[in-house]
Amino acid sequence: MHLLSTASEAYPLVKTGGLADVVGALPAALAPHGVATTTLLPGYPAVLKAAGHAKPVHRWPKLLGGEARLLKAEVAGLDFLILDAPALYARDGGLYGDPTGIDWPDNWRRFAALARAAADLASGAVEDYTFDILHAHDWQAAMAPAYLRYAPDAVGATRAKTVVTVHNIAFQGRFDASVFAELDLPRAAFALDGVEYYGGVGFLKAGLEAADAITTVSPTYAEEILRPEFGMGLEGLIAARSARVSGIVNGIDPAVWSPARDPHLAQPFTARTLTRRRASKRAVEQAFALDAGDGPIFTVVSRLTWQKGMDVLAWSLDDLVAAGGRLALLGSGDAALESAFLQAAARHPGRIGVRIGYDEPLSHLLQGGADAILIPSRFEPCGLTQLYGLAYGCVPVVARTGGLADTVIDANDAALAAGVATGIVFDGVSYDALTRAIRRTAALYARPDVWTTLQRNGMRADFSWGRSGRRYADLYRSLIAA
Ligand code: ADP
Ligand code: GLC
Repeated sequence: MHLLSTASEAYPLVKTGGLADVVGALPAALAPHGVATTTLLPGYPAVLKAAGHAKPVHRWPKLLGGEARLLKAEVAGLDFLILDAPALYARDGGLYGDPTGIDWPDNWRRFAALARAAADLASGAVEDYTFDILHAHDWQAAMAPAYLRYAPDAVGATRAKTVVTVHNIAFQGRFDASVFAELDLPRAAFALDGVEYYGGVGFLKAGLEAADAITTVSPTYAEEILRPEFGMGLEGLIAARSARVSGIVNGIDPAVWSPARDPHLAQPFTARTLTRRRASKRAVEQAFALDAGDGPIFTVVSRLTWQKGMDVLAWSLDDLVAAGGRLALLGSGDAALESAFLQAAARHPGRIGVRIGYDEPLSHLLQGGADAILIPSRFEPCGLTQLYGLAYGCVPVVARTGGLADTVIDANDAALAAGVATGIVFDGVSYDALTRAIRRTAALYARPDVWTTLQRNGMRADFSWGRSGRRYADLYRSLIAA
């Protein structure tokens, strides 16, 4: 079975968050189930650089108004197609915005072009390419099934079945109605069951209408987005299509995230050799200028945003220190939150260390050296950092929402007695709930036997892609058979 997977980022070529980890890990997750994956990405400078030897395989004289080429490359054992359209992607700054963080004004064109290229590939309109399934991730790729739906049949080709995965329904790709005229779609597409969305154009909405199947990245989030507080305006559409919606939890890529062979740790370790974590803990203390101490080191590796509950965490830091904890935070995001954390670090030298920025190797060291990872998200479609924490003996302290609720087992008395607890789960993202969870974590940490059991339970749990890879493959097969 041939799969075309398309998204705006994929590890190891370009990453700003968990989407990249998942898109990068899918090919290996699917291969054992007879699925051969090709991943289509925009040709940002970083992608073109990583795929230096890419070879041109197709040319569009006009793709959303501009010339574009399709390049083929193999990187890190994965098959990529790269959409080389310099007018759209050859820019300094971020994937989605300029160096100051403001969205590129033509993002609709940048990602409509990606989706249009994917639809051409999936409809058989690009010579030498046929695919059984087109899998589009998030709003940046979601127009692909919509383009496919309105595309004419290519002679002798069968068009792919389509899946849209929602990694975060808060990001929908909404644009002014005026862009519709340039999207290269038939007039009929500007309709309630097409791309029209609250009077404008909705990229994710269009994909959710057109897709043969919809998935989200955890079963709990699949339920949550049926409610207005999580569905963000799309709850009605999700409910109407609920027979085609499923939640498939993300896995983690053992080639990238295994403490037994992680080059970024001071010393590798396993569940049996947990004392070897100490060397990485010392390295964390040094990197964040933390005093030595008996209490737990909490870590945060996150976008600093409202979704992630970082405002509530910022209020709770004096209590974290009062409970005997220390904090090593790595993240970037909202300027006000960045400065709140920097101020807390200034208030508590030796107890709170803050690194503003993005640092992949340091994120590994933190998982392998800190004691607990704080994830007080208001919503979390899946979340990957709690899974990395579980795999690395960095006990997750999480809000009960989305994928966090599906992957962490709270250390309540029953779970401790049954020997199945893996973390601390709290309800409602509030100052009270979070500070109580932090105190509870510190109390558990003070009981070394209990703590070690928590760590080992997490490390022995299975968060590989095994089951989820099979579920995606089964879904694809059911669509092909239908
Ligand atoms: P989201 O995609 O919503 O940001 P996830 O938990 O799914 O959240 O994935 C976040 C990914 O980004 C993880 O791989 C995490 O380690 C990584 N990450 C987040 N912030 C940073 C940072 N400042 N430096 C390095 N890695 C980071
Ligand atoms: C999104 C979500 C996150 C999820 C990731 C990968 O970024 O916010 O919860 O883990 O996608 O699916």
